[in-house]
Order: sequence, then structure tokens, then C-alpha cells
Amino acid sequence: MSVRRSVVVGCGHHLPENVVTNADLAKRVDTSDEWIIERTGIRERRIAAEGETTSQLAIKAARAAIADAGLEPGDIDLIVLATATPDYTFPSTATQVQAGLGITHGAAFDVQAVCSGFVYALATADNFLKAGSHKRALVIGAETFSRILDWQDRTTCVLFGDGAGALVLEAQDGEGGIADRGIHSTHLRSDGRHLDKLYVDGGPSSTMTTGHLRMEGKEVFRHAVTNLADIIEEAFRATGLKADDIAWFVPHQANRRIIDATAKKLSIDPSRVVITVEKHGNTSAASIPLALATAYGDGRIKKGDLVLMEAMGGGFTWGSALVRW
Ligand code: UT7
Repeated sequence: MSVRRSVVVGCGHHLPENVVTNADLAKRVDTSDEWIIERTGIRERRIAAEGETTSQLAIKAARAAIADAGLEPGDIDLIVLATATPDYTFPSTATQVQAGLGITHGAAFDVQAVCSGFVYALATADNFLKAGSHKRALVIGAETFSRILDWQDRTTCVLFGDGAGALVLEAQDGEGGIADRGIHSTHLRSDGRHLDKLYVDGGPSSTMTTGHLRMEGKEVFRHAVTNLADIIEEAFRATGLKADDIAWFVPHQANRRIIDATAKKLSIDPSRVVITVEKHGNTSAASIPLALATAYGDGRIKKGDLVLMEAMGGGFTWGSALVRW
């Protein structure tokens, strides 16, 4: 029986030029390279230049993904962009990307699930493609978190960075088996009771300001490992796949210790874990596509590899995706 799946046909990314090291941050707040590396694994992050917006980063990542697919922007009929740092309150950043790419047909919209945004966007685009309403989708994670950080708060400002990553998905008919290329499962969850543990203290309808990121790091950490292991086990149960089948584990890059603990809990070999938090920091919705682009770009992720993604973020939201590349 033929089954329609969303197949990854292109992958790209873009990072701002400006590298900010832990030593640079230690000149601004009471922190140290040693503390940041030991507690998070982060050594440096990229920070957008003045005037460099989320949509500009996203357009460059999208162009790279479209070129990698050997397509033209006009071949895309759906753009789903995950961000918590849009250019404007409205319209969506996705429509800015659409215009920047010169696309005037199809649909473009944003998805807001903070650090889980890319998995949410992937699941959304997958369902559009499987339903048959659209043929080729750009799924983008793009952020300028530097704009919502409190640069006096050492407990948060050392953790985040800016960047964008993108995939091109194409609806293709496969044989319906586990060997098919494409998205095999997506699982999404949320629990809105946890607002106070990770949020931005502003918004159009509450304060009429943009606000700054606030986080109870320890609490988020505690929930992250449990929720992520649960949502991955759910993906394994749904697909009949197991940890040994995974070629590459590409987790959300928030903290090296969360990644290591999750991989250990699931018995995923450390040599199959893609880690970019060291160089990118936590780029929220951009972190998974940036990690995908890194491991695809250096030849680790190859056609036919089974890739497991997961993320957890504000809300709380969390999710997983199993994709045969
Ligand atoms: O992507 C969205 C999801 N977000 C996450 O997954 C983040 C999850 N949380 C974390 O990654 C970790 O909790 C953090 C990296 C945020 C913090 O690590 P921690 O091991 O939980 O440290 P802590 O918050 O318990 O702080 C330990 C100590 C405190 O000092 P005292 O109270 O023990 O004297 C902090 O004040 O470290 C201090 N501290 C710092 N010291 C130097 C906090 N931030 C810093 C800093 N530099 N930047």
C-alpha cells in the first residue's frame, strides 16, 4: 500500500557573524568561562548585529535549504516558521520570509512553541503535506533571542544565541514500511500550568512591551529530562523502532547535561548524539535545524539515516520526531 510521507529534500542554515565567547560575557556580568562550560557545555554563541532580524536570518537559511534541494523558491507552496522572536507582533515572520524569497502563492504562517517550535512546525507541515493540500514546505526555526534577554541577569543571558535553520519537505509516496524516507512520527505535548518557570515578562495584550526572558532554570531542567524521555519512548512505541535503530539523535540544544542525561536514560550511544550547544548556545526554535544542518553539512547525516529529534521549552511544550533522512 502506498503511503504519503514528508521527505527531507533540502537542509540549510545561517548564523550571524558576531561570535560572543564566555570570556566576553564575563566582562559584562559576574560569571566565568569555567562555570558556563561546566553547567551548560556552552563555549560561544552568535549574536545578531544591530538591525539584523529574525526574518533576515530565516531567508538566508531558507535559500540555502532550497539550493540544497536543487529547487527554486517558486517550487515552495507552504512556509511554516517557528519563532518566539518575530520581527513584528504582526504580520508573521513567515510572510516576511515568503516576500523575501519572492513567493506570491501558497501559504505562510508562524508557529509559537518556543524551544519546541521546530518540532511543532515540522509536525504541522507534515500534516499539511500528508493531507494533500500542499506539495513542498519550508520548515524554518529562526530566532534572535539576544533581543529578549536581560543582559544584567547572569542566570539567563549566558545561555542563549541567535541563528536560523531550515528544511525543505516534499510530499512523496512510499511503500509504507519503516525503510521509507520521510517523517515517520511526530508527538507533541504541552502543559500550560508552568508559565512562571519559563516566560517573557511582556507582550502586546498584557504590558504592551516586548519584555525579557525569565527562567527558573533548575525547575525547567528537572521537567526536561523526564518529559523528553517520555515523548521519545512514545515515538518508539508508536513506530516499533528502538534506540538501536537511531543513526543520529539530534536533540534541542539547551544544555549539554540535559542532552547527556536524556541519551543515557534512553541508552543512546554518545557517538550518535549531535551536539552543537558548545558553539551555538541555546537558539530556541533554531537549535534543532542548526544541529541538523551541522551534521548534514559535515557528512554525518546521510540519506536513509534514521534521525530522532526532541525538544522542550516554555509553556511547557515538548515533542519528538522520527525522520528517515
Ligand atoms: O530551552 C528551553 C529550556 N531551557 C532549559 O532547558 C534550561 C534548563 N536549565 C538549565 O540548563 C540549568 O538549570 C542552568 C544552566 C540554567 C543553571 O544550572 P544549575 O546547575 O541548575 O545552576 P543553578 O541555577 O542551581 O545555580 C547554581 C549557582 C547559583 O549560586 P548559589 O545560589 O549556589 O550561590 C547561581 O546563582 O550558580 C549561580 N549562577 C551562576 N554563576 C556564575 C547562576 N548563573 C550563573 C552564571 N555564572 N552565569
